[in-house]
Order: sequence, then structure tokens, then C-alpha cells
Amino acid sequence: MEFPLLYHAFFLLGICFLVLLVSCNPVIKVNGEFSSSPFPRSFLFGTASSSYQYEGAFLTDGKGLNNWDNFTHKPGNIMDGSNGDVAVDHYHRYLQDLDLMDYLGVNSYRFSISWARVLPKGRFGDVNWAGIDHYNKLINALLLKGIQPFVTLTHYDIPQELADRYGPWLSREVQEDFEYYADICFKYFGDRVKYWATFNEPNVVVIRGYQSGIYPPSRCSSLFGNCTNGDSEKEPFIAAHNIILSHAAAVKIYRTKYQKEQEGNIGIVMNTLWLEPMSNSLGDKLAAERAQAFYLNWFLDPIIFGKYPKEMYEILGSSLPSLSKYDLEKLKNGLDFIGINYYSSFYVKDCIFSVCEPGPGNSKTEGSILRTAKRNGVLIGEPTDVDWLFVYPQGMSEIVTYIKERYNNIPMYITENGFGERDNPHTSIEDLLNDTRRVRYMSNHLDSLAIAVRNGADVRGYFAWSLLDNFEWNDGYTIRFGLHHVDYATLKRTKRLSANWYKQYIAKHMAGKRSSASA
Ligand SMILES: *[C@@H]1O[C@H](CO)[C@@H](O)[C@H](O)[C@H]1NC(C)=O
Ligand SMILES: *[C@@H]1O[C@H](CO)[C@@H](O)[C@H](O)[C@H]1NC(C)=O
Ligand SMILES: *[C@@H]1O[C@H](CO)[C@@H](O)[C@H](O)[C@H]1NC(C)=O
Repeated sequence: MEFPLLYHAFFLLGICFLVLLVSCNPVIKVNGEFSSSPFPRSFLFGTASSSYQYEGAFLTDGKGLNNWDNFTHKPGNIMDGSNGDVAVDHYHRYLQDLDLMDYLGVNSYRFSISWARVLPKGRFGDVNWAGIDHYNKLINALLLKGIQPFVTLTHYDIPQELADRYGPWLSREVQEDFEYYADICFKYFGDRVKYWATFNEPNVVVIRGYQSGIYPPSRCSSLFGNCTNGDSEKEPFIAAHNIILSHAAAVKIYRTKYQKEQEGNIGIVMNTLWLEPMSNSLGDKLAAERAQAFYLNWFLDPIIFGKYPKEMYEILGSSLPSLSKYDLEKLKNGLDFIGINYYSSFYVKDCIFSVCEPGPGNSKTEGSILRTAKRNGVLIGEPTDVDWLFVYPQGMSEIVTYIKERYNNIPMYITENGFGERDNPHTSIEDLLNDTRRVRYMSNHLDSLAIAVRNGADVRGYFAWSLLDNFEWNDGYTIRFGLHHVDYATLKRTKRLSANWYKQYIAKHMAGKRSSASA
């Protein structure tokens, strides 16, 4: 890949686009309506959430404990000592939150089902009918408003029972549990849910859970983090392998038992980074490719091509788990779409042919690359209050185009994109709501996405992270990502500037109307 050339191409395209917009304001006739939207008619505009970050009600109506309940209750794991016991109480306030979505004019809502709410002890206990009932009510309420549910089966969470038995992704047996859980979700919700994601960001689950150990199950080796147990150079690959095969098991059940009748789609959601080579050297270009292999293609290649990326075989050799004939047979079911969570970009420097300072990604089992936000002392993008988030809108079209080319333009959804700010008790409420940086971030990322779409990328939706401020994992409630501010003392939701901006953007760009009648 010739990056400088690509840059020029994007720059020129951007100019052409502007010139076109200004000079002839191109209008596209869509079903009798005139629209200048670059997005296809059936494009989904939504907001995204996850059960642990939103629901609260951690012991309500028979929910079992999960790995994040366990993890947050152990002192020292969460920056502000908080947890998701109450979160933003979406479990009880979902109708009010649907009204906020209704106002925005979205036609889809991405949320996740809490596994332990449906199966408190996995397959080693009963179905919790109150949990089934809750999600039925949520799904029905969404459809009444013409908002399509876009459902993730697990967004980092797993019943503690299974975490205890399997550690929780280290045993092959977990595949059976995931398949059992997926089957129940398809059976009870699949008549109305047309979009299923098996996993949210499994790359983050295994890297943070088994390499750095900052997420449950807090496993790592001493050079990588501060854990009492684990092996950062082996376990991430075992956990990833079992997640990949769990995905395959769920897709197989969907394809064989449900899809024909229910006519939905099933995919997986990956965390993505655009990784720019540090220099024009061949070494750094190969390193950037290797970094994608060890971050993204690690999961997508086995699911789509039936094998791990060649860069991983070359470095890890036989220590990479092997795919049996039986596994390959399961993996043939692939996926229908790729969910892309994109927030930030980094530079990548080669550490095979050149010497690197120790840093993230540096070890052999991470691909021997150095990932950094700075080149010659200059940051890749505006820094934010979130340590991993640098504003680099071009990265949106870059990563979408990369995935389009590598995976033959399989349908894609931007399942998350958003801007976080640190909570500051001294900020006035006016300033808290006047989130101009978030508006600029979303606007520039959507413009960048539009460039990729105009160039033929089959992107079918965009979900803003997030409708509300919420529990931000290790950062607790100290980082706010919401289009709505949440007062954590009263749980009152208040619109930010970005909510009104997104509403206007959707009104202008949504070609197809919301489909409550046809839903
Ligand atoms: C978390 O899980 C560990 C391992 O199963 C267990 O020993 C511990 O008691 C649990 N902690 C909480 C707070 O549930
Ligand atoms: C590592 O974890 C232990 C126990 O959780 C804690 O006491 C210690 O301060 C931690 N060390 C570092 C360097 O964070
Ligand atoms: C919001 O902030 C911008 C600058 O960031 C400022 O120009 C504008 O006046 C502010 N609006 C309100 C309502 O405070």
C-alpha cells in the first residue's frame, strides 16, 4: 500500500466533493424524495450502549452476577471506586431513554443483552424469565417507534458461574455455553431482531483480560502488568481461539435453525485503530500491516478466511492454536457483516529490523511493533481527556477502506464512534452541555465516512457512542461520552448540543424514513 498516494487521493477527493457541493449541490432522487445524502436508503442511524454500562439493576428480577460485577466490587480496579450496580438505571428508565432516541430521529438502537440476566448460571441453571420479559418489552417498545434493535450478545460480560468454571475464555467448553445462550436469544427475540452481533470487541476482551490484565479475569505476566496469575504470551491466543469458535458456534446455530425464517443478519463487532506507518520505510509499512494482523485480522481472518493472518503464523509458529477440521467446518459459516468501532489512530514503528524503546505492542507476541501517538514530537491528532483517544477523522475512511479491501467489501456497520470528556466538578452546567468538541468530532468522522462510502465501501449504518454518559469501565464515571449529560446523583438526563446536532444531521441525511409501519 502506498500511503502518501492514498493521502493525496483522499485530499483530492475531499476537494472535489467540496467543489461539487458548492457548485451544483448534487441531489439524488430516492424514492420520490430528494436527498443529498451519501448514505444508502436503508442506512441505519443510531446510538449504541451496553448492558453493564447502562442497565444497573445488577441483582434485580433474578439477574445473576457476572464477571464485571465481580471485578468492579474488588477495590482498586476502577478509578473512582465505582461500579455498574446502578449505572444509568436504563433497566428501569428505558422508556424515557427511548423518548430521547425518538427525539433524535434514529432508526436503530444498538444495545447488548446481559447474559447473566437471561441465564444467571449459564447452562448450569434455569432461564430467568424476568430477563427474557425485560428484553421483550424493550424490543417491542423500540419497534413501536420504528427503531430497529441491533443486538450484541455479549459486550464484555459473562456469568460469573462460567468465569469460575472456564476462566472464562480459556476452556474450549465455553463454546457450548455461548452456543446455548445464543440459541435462547435467537429463539425468544429473533422473530423481531434483524441484526445480531455475537461479540463486542473480542480483541479488547483478550488483550485487556489476559495480556495487560486490566479487565477481568485480571490475568497477565509480570512484564505486562500487575496480576497474580496468567501468561500474557500464551493465554490471549487461547482465549481468542475460543471466542472465535464460540462466534462460529453461534452463527452455525443461527444459520441452521433460525436465519431462513427470521431473515436477520449476524456479525461481530471489532475494536479498530487506524495504524499509520511511522515512516515510508518498508520496515514500518510492514510493521503497520503486522500491527493490524495482531489486532484486527487476528479475529476476522479465521472467521472469514478460515486461517490466522500469515504475519501471526510467521512470528508465533506452532504456539498459535491450530484449527482442527471440525473447527474449520464450523468457521465456514463466517458472518454477514463486520461491526467497526472506530475512535482513534496511532503510528506504528518496526521493532524487528530497528531497535525500539519498550512500549505497548513491542513484544514478539504482540507483533514486534511500537505503537505511539507521536511522530517527531507531533501528535497524530488532537489529544482528548481519554488517554487512548486522539482525534484523527481521516482514520475513519482509512480503516473502512482497509477492511473493505481485505474482506471483499462485506457489509460494514460503524457500531461505535464517539468523543469522551473528563468529568470536571467545577464546570458549569452550560459548559457541560455545550459540547462543541464532540460535535466537531462526530461531524468530521461522518464526513470522512462519507468519503469511503462514495468510493464504494458497503457501509450500512452509524451508531454514536453514546446516547447517555455511562459507566466507562476502568475509568468509572470519570469519563463522559454522552449526547446527553447524566447527573449521577439524580440520574436526570439533559440534552447536550451534540444531541441537537445529531438530530439535525439525521434529518438531513437519512434517505429512507423510519419504518414503524413496515417493522
Ligand atoms: C469474584 O470471583 C472470585 C473467583 O471466583 C471469587 O473468589 C470472589 O469471591 C468473587 N468476588 C465477588 C465480589 O463476587
Ligand atoms: C499490584 O497489585 C497489588 C494488589 O492488587 C497492589 O497492592 C499493588 O500496589 C499493585 N502494584 C502496582 C505497581 O500497581
Ligand atoms: C459554546 O462554546 C462555544 C465555543 O466553544 C461558544 O462560541 C458558544 O458561545 C458557546 N455557547 C453557549 C450556549 O454557551
